[in-house]
Amino acid sequence: MKKNSFLLSLSPALFLFSLSLAADPDMLQDICVADLTSTATKLNGFACKPVAAANETDFSFLGLAKPGATNNTMGSLVTAANVEKVPGLNTLGISMSRIDYAPGGLNPPHTHPRATEMAFVLEGELEVGFITTANKLVTKTITKGEVFVFPRGLVHFQKNNGKVPASAIVAFNSQLPGTQSIAATLFASTPTVPDPVLTKAFQIGTKEVEKIKSRLAPKK
Ligand SMILES: *[C@@H]1O[C@H](CO)[C@@H](O)[C@H](O)[C@H]1NC(C)=O
Ligand SMILES: *[C@@H]1O[C@H](CO)[C@@H](O)[C@H](O)[C@H]1NC(C)=O
Repeated sequence: MKKNSFLLSLSPALFLFSLSLAADPDMLQDICVADLTSTATKLNGFACKPVAAANETDFSFLGLAKPGATNNTMGSLVTAANVEKVPGLNTLGISMSRIDYAPGGLNPPHTHPRATEMAFVLEGELEVGFITTANKLVTKTITKGEVFVFPRGLVHFQKNNGKVPASAIVAFNSQLPGTQSIAATLFASTPTVPDPVLTKAFQIGTKEVEKIKSRLAPKK
């Protein structure tokens, strides 16, 4: 009995703790349009513009209307509509992106530390997947009009195996989900991750590590 009441007394604290781990925090006012130029301390997100200075421009964006250029190494381009592009999203806990894929294009394995993602296929077909922490791959080929969910923080990818371009609109439960692209994170960071870390982790030689590093180095 004593044990139970102790656990009960603990549960509100556990509930609050779990809330504090849940995606972006809730807002405390109607709007807090980001002042992207403010040098004020960032507490969590951006400082707010005065409400009187905010208008419809802060809440709209045409950047997702047209396909982005996919003539790059991976054959894909992510165009974000996050708080950096749509200042009105500040404190609201959501954002979107458009992703375009050339035939054969890949949005390489990556994670979003702050958001679950839900993708909607606009055009074409995509082979998509995520890997759980138990190392199970959950994968499917999704077609025009289909949605797919990538749970927060899990490594995931999308690939266009079709002969025509593909595109998707993706939603996030964060104003700024953040992206860590696994290959670039490990092989193209500044300063670089030491070779011995990578040779041991990937069970390959220094030559192979150097080769990957040179291929993924940011283009000058
Ligand atoms: C909205 O505010 C911006 C400054 O943030 C200004 O440049 C723009 O002209 C305003 N738009 C309208 C319709 O008032
Ligand atoms: C991609 O195509 C655009 C438009 O055709 C061009 O301006 C740009 O230089 C190309 N980029 C690369 C990396 O080839």
